[in-house]
This record gives sequence, structure tokens and C-alpha cells, in this order.
Amino acid sequence: MKNILVIGGAGFIGSHTCLALLEKDYKVFVFDSFVNSSSNSLKRVLEISELKNKKTEPFLKIYRGDLLNKKQLENTFKDIYENYEFLDGVIHFGGLKSVAESIYSPIEYWKTNVLGTINLLETMSKYESKHLVFSSSATIYGSSKNSFLKEDSELNPINPYGNTKLTVEKFLGDIFKSARKEWHLASLRYFNPIGAHYSGLIGECPIGKPNNIFPLITNTALGLQKELKVFGNDWPTKDGTPIRDYIHVMDLANIHIRVLEHLISNKPNYLKLNVGTGKGTSVLELIKIFERVNKVRVPYVYAKRRPGDKCSIVADNSLLISKLKISPKSSIEDMCRDGWKWKNLNPNGY
Ligand code: UD1
Repeated sequence: MKNILVIGGAGFIGSHTCLALLEKDYKVFVFDSFVNSSSNSLKRVLEISELKNKKTEPFLKIYRGDLLNKKQLENTFKDIYENYEFLDGVIHFGGLKSVAESIYSPIEYWKTNVLGTINLLETMSKYESKHLVFSSSATIYGSSKNSFLKEDSELNPINPYGNTKLTVEKFLGDIFKSARKEWHLASLRYFNPIGAHYSGLIGECPIGKPNNIFPLITNTALGLQKELKVFGNDWPTKDGTPIRDYIHVMDLANIHIRVLEHLISNKPNYLKLNVGTGKGTSVLELIKIFERVNKVRVPYVYAKRRPGDKCSIVADNSLLISKLKISPKSSIEDMCRDGWKWKNLNPNGY
């Protein structure tokens, strides 16, 4: 059984990845500060994996800690190496992720996302733990005339959140160059993860008012807000609303494991990969599909464009498919159905 440390494992993508790891019999160690997440997500993760009635008991150990506290990080690695021999890999979700908040609190974002990652890499280096999958974001791309973004498309983030993600990618590049025979690294550039595990027991649980489209759609469908504001119907797209590449969070979780397995069984490398479906869906299409699949109404009104938004952001995911031999499986219908099940069963989150 392999040992994997998941930094920020209680969050939205983190909890789904912990579940996917347990389903594949990995031993999972979670390091999380719980500032933006609830430990209940991990209780649910265990519940779901116990329901599977597998031969091996799921193993999940939690360390409460902050990446900015080097002592807590050090103690976590020490405990794992002393009591469980070694770590096969680290998956790093431990960051702040609100674009709007990053504009008001750049210091917090640079500290947590950049300094936190430096602390992590320093500790990994000390323990000779050199396999890492890092959560990056498609937000690091500049505006592209071609709507399909390739890994070598122009990079030009326009907000502090995006700047911290690109900075960490560059930092990992320098780490790799410093010891090319040692590090196995991957930065995954996520497009728009939505949906939830099909059980409806775990899902996205934003603290405070959500900004992203999917939790706003489910809130509106549930009547928690009167209507959804659609930011602009004057974009040069077929229905005038912006196009995004939505990916099911369980597909994303499974891709992390595939990437980690690839890093473990191949020569040292630094991969930068787009993780999206390669299919664009407009805001209006997403609303309509959600309404049809779930037989609910999502009242909406058109509002002005949101500053900083782009017209169309869709992944060219051919590198992921050719190199990793994996592609996202779920449809927008699956994402809408599973995400709504989670919201219905847990209207107030965890
Ligand atoms: C946003 C972030 C991005 C981050 C991603 C995933 C911005 C500018 N970008 O991307 O950095 O990586 O979330 O967390 O914030 N929309 C509405 N009404 C709403 C909310 C959204 O019409 O109330 C539209 C937006 O205009 C956009 C689409 O829905 O076209 C998706 O929005 P959102 O979920 O916020 O994701 P992104 O803007 O793609």
C-alpha cells in the first residue's frame, strides 16, 4: 500500500481525491488547516469508503496544521517517516482560491500560496520525498484569440490569485532544474471543476457567499437566492454568454491519481498539464441542462459583464490524453445531477 500526503485534503477537490485514493487502497494522510473547509468532509469520505465493504480497511490520518507553520509541517513528515516508513507522493491543494479576495488581500494570498509551497518543498526536500502533484489553474493563461488553450499558450494572469499560481509553477521549474535526476513534479492546470461524488455525501461547500457559477446555480434552484445574475449576454458566442470547460470533480480526482502513478513509475520530470474536457459550455447552456436534468427552475437575469472575465476558456487536453492515457468521462448532465444531489441532501453544507 502506498502512502500519500494530501495537503488541503478536506476541501472540495481534496476530499474527492482522498476518496479516490482510498478506493484504490492508498494510505491517505491529510494535512489541513481547516480555515476554508470542514473536517466533516473527511468523515464522509471514510463513510463512503467503508460502505464499499472492501477487504482492506480504509486508512486516513488527519494532521491539523498550517503550511506557514514549519514546525507543524515538520512534525507531520516526522510522524509519517517514523511510523509509516515513507511517503510515496504529495498532492498539494493547500491554497487560497478566491480571485476577488486575492485582490483585497494580496499579502495573505502570496504568503499562503507561495510561501506555504516553499515551506512544503523545503520539508519534502529534507525528507527526500520528491514526488509532487500541484493544483494550478487555467487562470494563469492570458487572453487567447484561439479559444482552445494549449500548455504553451501565452501565460499572463491578471489577478493576485493567478500570479501566485504562476509563481509556484515557476518555482517548481527552478526546483526541478536544480536536481533534474531527483524530482518528479506535475502542475495541473484546472479548468472549471463542478459536480460532486455521485453519493451526494461530499461536495463543494464554499464558506461565505459563493462567487463561482455552479454553487450559485444550486443556491438559486433551492430558492436561497431569488435569481442568478448571468454576467453578460453580449459576448461573441452563440447565445451571447461566456463559455467555460466544466469538468466533473471525480474525473479531476481520478486524474490526480493517474498523474501521481505516472510520476512514480517514470523518470524524473516536470509536467504541466491542462485538465479539462476540451468541450465548451455556455452559461446559458449550463443553466438549461441543469434545469432539464434535475427538473427544477433556475430563474436568471442578465447583468453587466463581470470585470476580468474572459469570453471563452476551453482546454486543449490532448497532452493529458496522449501522455497519461486518461480522459474525463462525465457529461455536463452527470455534473448537474451529482452536484444537485449533494446540494439537496446538504442544503447547509457539512
Ligand atoms: C473563476 C476564476 C478563476 C478560478 C475559477 C475556479 C475569475 C475571474 N476567475 O473562473 O480564476 O480558477 O473560478 O474557481 O473569477 N457567472 C455568471 N454569474 C455568476 C457567476 C459566474 O454569469 O454569478 C459566469 C462567469 O461570467 C463565467 C462563468 O459563469 O463566464 C464561470 O464563472 P466562475 O464559476 O466564477 O468561473 P471562472 O470565471 O471561469
